[in-house]
Amino acid sequence: MTHNTIFDKSKTLDQKMIKKHLDKKTADKYGFLLLDSVDSTNTLAKKLAGDGADKPLVIISDQQSAGRGRLGRSFYSPKSDGLYMSVLIDPEKEKIEIPTITHFVATAVANAIEELCDGVKVGIKWVNDLLIDGKKVCGILCESGRSGDGVDFTVIGIGVNLSERDFPDDIRNIAGSVYSCTGQMIDRVCLAANIIKNLDKYEPDFMDNYRQRSVVIGKRVKVISYDDTYFAKAMSISDDGSLNVEDENGEKKELCFGEISLCFEKEDSV
Ligand code: BTN
Repeated sequence: MTHNTIFDKSKTLDQKMIKKHLDKKTADKYGFLLLDSVDSTNTLAKKLAGDGADKPLVIISDQQSAGRGRLGRSFYSPKSDGLYMSVLIDPEKEKIEIPTITHFVATAVANAIEELCDGVKVGIKWVNDLLIDGKKVCGILCESGRSGDGVDFTVIGIGVNLSERDFPDDIRNIAGSVYSCTGQMIDRVCLAANIIKNLDKYEPDFMDNYRQRSVVIGKRVKVISYDDTYFAKAMSISDDGSLNVEDENGEKKELCFGEISLCFEKEDSV
């Protein structure tokens, strides 16, 4: 399915429209909460965890006033220019492996974007950034916890820059939108539905897809952890999602993504 039509930014997010793009089984599986504005869809999803919902809940907002990224960063979320979406799930019911959920979601969203964009290749910068032509067009923030009623929950947060043409100074060099990188406008409703479809097709062998999309393997990168910063060559990604690097002294290290961020040699961190 290709959508090269002019993107109607005024189009309100409508759950009936999203459901129209899903088969009945998938449409019935999810609850939907579509908002004009919220601080952060992830923050709201975490508040709603434990409210006894019997279905996974999809929350989408037209804008966020305090969108959040990994490592305490903010996520720029201007009105109608992107897809800001969180999916609240019970990880046990969905049978998704939590340690690699960010990797899975990254491949699912990359597939969803490519299905709607002609001839576009979406790369992944370990661990959670989706890139087109070297620019970050999407970030993923998965958060897990236990709610008041003792049930484990996971919030899958996805922010896709769709039509922004300009970004704030601090991210201008690294961020892009699907439109600014490809000249193609994709419809938020179609993308939301496509992401849900791809999230619903969980296959434990997604890591090969993740590895094929990697833009860091073989590259020199700057590794930034809470107590150290060093240059290294990215060598491979293991099945458990960790990144294997070799530092400048030839020492091999295995990076688990918790507190680590990565950037290319001459880049600011994203
Ligand atoms: C990152 O780039 O580090 C992750 C960004 C994740 C942004 C999305 S937008 C929807 C959801 N709500 C948030 O506050 N964050 C995620």
